[in-house]
Amino acid sequence: MSYVTNLYEKLGPKIISRKQIHTAVKRIAKQINNDFNNREVTLISNLKGSFRFVSDLISHLKVPIRIGFVSFRSYKGTKRIGKKVVIDKDLDLDIKGRHVIIIEDIVDSGLTMDYSIQYFKKQKKAKSVKICTLLDKEVKRQVPIKIDYCGFKISDFFLVGYGLDYDEYFRELNDISVFKQIINGEKSE
Ligand code: IMP
Ligand code: MG
Repeated sequence: MSYVTNLYEKLGPKIISRKQIHTAVKRIAKQINNDFNNREVTLISNLKGSFRFVSDLISHLKVPIRIGFVSFRSYKGTKRIGKKVVIDKDLDLDIKGRHVIIIEDIVDSGLTMDYSIQYFKKQKKAKSVKICTLLDKEVKRQVPIKIDYCGFKISDFFLVGYGLDYDEYFRELNDISVFKQIINGEKSE
């Protein structure tokens, strides 16, 4: 069996439907619209996992926005590559003195987010930094993170679909499914 066929055979049950995602996206957009109330905000989407989420989110926003894309990586497959966060793509937008919302697909250990917040505040001099994530895997947190906008709180499953990948596959799925349960930081077979 080929590697890819094998991967797709290991796809588990859907746990968040496209309809639930749509409802959550609209709810979050409403919160942002209320909070910013015509003030401009800069969204910083962490690629690649959040590309579908940010794209759907902006279609419901009624405040002036700018969008920047970064790629901060802390994972390879389902295995962590250590505590270090690697910048694959840096911000190409000036955010000095600006209100920023970081858009993530999922906050897991919180290390990527913790690094991102410090980086945008201290190095890029943002005026304020809020956090928006589609999924919050709070049980895995290693550093405290205050999340301002959250789609769903989830258990300790490795999830794929709607932008989230395993080894770059499954981003195309419209619903979110379990790939493999992670036990003690390792994949279960
Ligand atoms: P953290 O630094 O541990 O919070 O890592 C967050 C990043 O890890 C996310 O932006 C994802 O790219 C990746 N990640 C963590 N859990 C999952 C998952 O269940 N599915 C897909 N990617 C995940
Ligand atoms: Mg990500």
